[in-house]
This record gives sequence, structure tokens and C-alpha cells, in this order.
Amino acid sequence: MTAIDVIRAKRDGATLSDEQIDWIIHGYTRGRVAEEQMAALAMAILLNGMSRREIARWTAALIASGQRMRLPAQELGGRPTVDKHSTGGVGDKITLPLAPLVAACGAVVPQLSGRGLGHTGGTLDKLETIPGWRAGLSAGRLLAQLREVGAAVCAASDELAPADRKLYALRDVTGTVESIPLIAGSIMSKKIAEGAGSLVLDVKVGTGAFMKDVGQARELARTMVALGGDHGVTTTAVLTDMDTPLGLTAGNALEVRESVEVLAGGGPCDVVELTHALAREMLAAAGLDRIDPADRLRDGSAMDVWRRMISAQGGDPDATLPRARESHAVVAPATGVLAKLDAYAVGMAAWHLGAGRARKEDPVQAAAGIELHAKPGASVRTGQPLLTLHTDTPERFEPAVAALRDAVTVVPPGTRLELRPLVIERVHVATPRTMRPLLGPAPHLDGHEAS
Ligand code: URA
Repeated sequence: MTAIDVIRAKRDGATLSDEQIDWIIHGYTRGRVAEEQMAALAMAILLNGMSRREIARWTAALIASGQRMRLPAQELGGRPTVDKHSTGGVGDKITLPLAPLVAACGAVVPQLSGRGLGHTGGTLDKLETIPGWRAGLSAGRLLAQLREVGAAVCAASDELAPADRKLYALRDVTGTVESIPLIAGSIMSKKIAEGAGSLVLDVKVGTGAFMKDVGQARELARTMVALGGDHGVTTTAVLTDMDTPLGLTAGNALEVRESVEVLAGGGPCDVVELTHALAREMLAAAGLDRIDPADRLRDGSAMDVWRRMISAQGGDPDATLPRARESHAVVAPATGVLAKLDAYAVGMAAWHLGAGRARKEDPVQAAAGIELHAKPGASVRTGQPLLTLHTDTPERFEPAVAALRDAVTVVPPGTRLELRPLVIERVHVATPRTMRPLLGPAPHLDGHEAS
């Protein structure tokens, strides 16, 4: 077999065999398939798609390129493990209150997360604004923290799906990110390799998300739910709105502050609503659906887990979070009803202010970001502050304000708006039994445990 045979087959619309998929992923992981060959194959996949069976095998091969984490129930007091993944959006800080909340309800939450790239923020960047907090945990320390605290948010090890790490970086620079088979395989290979028993996917839809329309998002969600089932992971997905930023903040320390407000029983309504909705999904997937997560927020036990989770990774939960040196207000252009506050524009503006990075090695500013003073549906008056921009470097205000040029729409007073609900729809659990036949014998890569 040669890489050229595999590329030509996909270019000409053929279905790749299990052997072709295993061979190409194996060769790419070992450096025997060149970057340009993988880029050509990724483009052929983007243009011609993949069958359900090909996506299942592709994902299995990505998992088999590294190690699958073990989270043995007997070492975790018999508690079920459950994980959440968001496809990424602006102001999406839900992991921060959600992981301790679900742990306070009796599940174990191993939340391996990443850093932000482009206009969406990364969970690790947010937590790293807490003085002393460290993202790195060895496998042994992660297991100990899960046993003692019930939740950990930390960096994923290089051993999890290394082929995906390489491929994602390549897709990023070759215009091949926007492919449902490749996105589904990429996300699910990492999530399945993390070893949790169940998984809830928050698939974002809207201007600030990868998926701009509900049809695409539904297809991605169904593909990922089926892949979870193939690998014995009980998987559910919800489609949620990302036309408007989530909550009233976008930016690392600002979002930590807002998450702590939610854990203290306050916080913006949409963040509270989504935290509850995802907690209920996670508890149902983990078989703990008799517990109402709202009780655990009210009685302070979610906050207790948060404090222990932060301290266990060296952070000081009582430390003052960084504040930016400079701020600038963006005001309402007219009196009326705020009809649109575009998530992508707000994400790009926060990025210009220093909250995000262009290349993965770039630093981020802890305190940079945006506070929102109104959300769509609110009445506003000309000149009223709508957004406050924060940064340590005031020369960043100009590009941030430019990014917001078309972000705001105000319609005449009294106009009735049709606002999309935050939780748009739910994609049901696929049982391992019904999905299993799609997978043949698991691929095996030398030197590693096959999944
Ligand atoms: N997130 C991932 O991990 N992979 C993708 O392909 C897209 C988003």
C-alpha cells in the first residue's frame, strides 16, 4: 500500500477500507506518511466525506495511536465517571461551575481540557488566571485527585490520541478543519481515550461556533453520539445557541469571576440554565438522575468541591483575580431593543484585546476581555454602555472596536423578537449494543495498547 493509493482512492470518491485507514494513520503517526500527503488526504475527505463505517475506523485508529486512560471504578469508590465536551464558543465557561457541581452530586468528573486558539477561549487559560493553579497533572496525581475531590480539570497528556494532535495542527493550516467526519473523529478520539464511562457533548450552533446552522450541528452531534456508542461510552449531545456570547463576560479572569458567582448561587441566567441542563444530562448518563443539581448549588456543596479542586492543583481559591489596567466603553448606537450581539465579533474583539492567541505558543493576558451590560431582548438607550473592553495594552482598543463594528443591532422600541432558545435540541443516547457492529477488530499499533 502507498499513501498515494489511499489519497487517490478518496479523491476519486471510493470508500477507504479498514486496512487503508489503519495504515495511513499508523504511517502518519510514525512520520512515514508525509505532512503534504496527509494534507491532501484531509482535503479529499473534506470534499468527498466519509461513510459512517469509515469515520468509526478513522476514530478507532486515532485512539490506537496512543494510550487509553484507565479510570477503574474500584479506585474511585465505585462512583461513575462522566465527562463533558463543548465544541467551543465565546464566553463558554460552563466547565468551571459544571465539573464541581456534578462531582458534588456523586459522579467523578475527569475534565481534560485545552488552551484556546482563535476567537474561542480555552478552559486552561481561564483557570491559569487563579494565582498558583497548575494545569499539569501526572496520571497518578489525576487519579488521586479524582478519588479525593471527585473532579479535576487539567491538561490532556501527549499520550492521548497523538495522531490527532499532529493532524489537528495540520488541518489548522491547510483549510481542512471544517469537515464533519474529521471534527467528529478528532473530538471523539480524545474523549474516548480519556476513559470516562459516559460523555455529554455541548454542540454549539451560531456565528461564534464551528457549526453555523442547526442542520450541520445536528449531523455532527449524531456522528459523535454514534462514535461514543461504538466504543462503549454512553454519549448524549445537546445543541446550544452560540449566536450570542454565553453569560456577561468573555475573557479569562472575567470568566472565572462569573463562574464563581454561579457556584455562589448567582450569576447570569443563561450560564445558570446551561450549567443545570448539562449537569442533568451528565447525571442521567451516569445513572444518578435522582439527584437535583440545583440542590447542590444551593447548599454550597458545589462551591466546596470547587475550592478543593482549585487547591489540589496549587491554586488559591480566595486570591484576588487579576484586573486589567485599561478599560473602554462601547455604547448603544440607538434607543430601542437590542436584537443582536454577535458572538463571533465579541470573540474576535476579546482576542484583539489579548484574551486569546494566534499561535499556540503565544501568551494570553489574564485580565483582558469584555463585559457585556445587555443581552438581546433588553431595552437600551442611545449612549448607554453596552460593552466594557479590558486590556493591559491600550493600543489594542482600536482593532477590538473595529471588530465590533457590525456586532450590535438595535431595533425600534416595542419590536417583538423571536429569540432562539439557549438549549435548541437534544440528540439521544446511542447504546453500545446497537452501534457495535460498525467496528471491526480494533486497529493495533505496535508498542501501544489497542483500544
Ligand atoms: N476540536 C477538536 O478537538 N477537533 C476539531 O477538529 C475541531 C474542534
